[in-house]
Amino acid sequence: MKKSILITGGAGFIGCHVVRLFVEKYPDYNIINLDLLTYAGNLENLKEVENAPNYRFERVDILKEEDLKFVFEKHNVTDVIHLAAESHVDRSITDPLAFVRTNVIGTVNLLNVAKAYWKNYDDHLFYHVSTDEVYGSLEDGGFFTETTPYDPQSPYSASKASSDHFVRAYANTYKLKTVITNCSNNYGANQFPEKLIPLCIHNIKNNRPLPVYGKGENIRDWLYVVDHARAIDMVFHEGKPGETYNVGGFNEWKNIDIVKLLCQKMDEKLGREAGSSEKLITYVTDRAGHDHRYAIDATKIQRELGWEPSLQFEEGITKTIDWYLENEEWLNNVTSGDYQKYYELHYDNR
Ligand code: NAD
Ligand code: TYD
Repeated sequence: MKKSILITGGAGFIGCHVVRLFVEKYPDYNIINLDLLTYAGNLENLKEVENAPNYRFERVDILKEEDLKFVFEKHNVTDVIHLAAESHVDRSITDPLAFVRTNVIGTVNLLNVAKAYWKNYDDHLFYHVSTDEVYGSLEDGGFFTETTPYDPQSPYSASKASSDHFVRAYANTYKLKTVITNCSNNYGANQFPEKLIPLCIHNIKNNRPLPVYGKGENIRDWLYVVDHARAIDMVFHEGKPGETYNVGGFNEWKNIDIVKLLCQKMDEKLGREAGSSEKLITYVTDRAGHDHRYAIDATKIQRELGWEPSLQFEEGITKTIDWYLENEEWLNNVTSGDYQKYYELHYDNR
């Protein structure tokens, strides 16, 4: 059976890297990118593959069951890699229901449509891309493993935890073949500049304040987005059905140290006097319920599938800064809102 893989959220940050990898690496697969194009979706991320013969785009809301059914039938979808979500913790604090709708109800809608459309479940995989934030917050010791009990602390992580539970419930109850990966913080090209790293790059470039929440002592584990996409490729093809794999960078950083590293590297790149960008650091009110530390133990995927990060953090950060500096138009289109016209201009008549 020819594979026809539905990748949801493919116009977003991680999704565009997954779509590009699959379109280019697997010319024999049909890749269908299904995305509503919310504020976070940007088709400019997919310029390189938009005319590839094995790529299709469908502007669809995962909350619309009939539209999902139509797409499954039109493309004879054989597998799903589900990334579409509301993904920003700060937005989940101001509007939790939007996260319940997209992340919980949207995921259950997609599960229902896949369950009804597929006949022999052994022939199909439903892959859910999730986050390490479902495990809650760590103190200064220990790591999240695949057996760490779920303890989500933000509306975002609660919605992702719920969707993970639904995926497992469908595997247990209906015998749908599923797999879940829980990954740490991603960074790299094409990330919307509301998240820490692209926001700081953008603000340093424009001499704007760098808002550091609280004392900047919170710790995150960072992974280069291309390495996450590689992990998804491996788990999709070689992961054991029903399993969970944690994906992480073995790379913990305090927020303030990242911000300082970005300042230092940007000073060098922009030919500014050493230390000048650090003056932009501004400590602001902490995020409500701010998780102290995330740290992933990724030895299972390393041991069982041979995956490991390909880039050291400093190398990845340098590549990321270079990408944002070289793609000024992308950043300008995002900040001006022009990126939202791309669909009408380039796709409407397809
Ligand atoms: P993103 O916000 O950049 O992209 C999300 C995409 O989903 C956007 O293209 C958006 O248009 C689309 N979308 C939103 N609502 C939709 C709907 N109702 N119907 C169809 N499409 C919709 O997110 P991201 O950072 O690329 O994250 C992708 C996935 O990976 C998410 O599920 C997220 O929880 C998970 N994840 C993210 C990180 C991270 O560091 N960014 C880490 C681990 C896991
Ligand atoms: P973020 O990129 O939003 O990812 P997440 O909340 O999913 O980890 O934030 C990364 C860390 O940086 C988190 O501890 C919050 C902090 N942060 C700031 O200090 N200032 C900011 O402006 C942002 C967006 C985040």
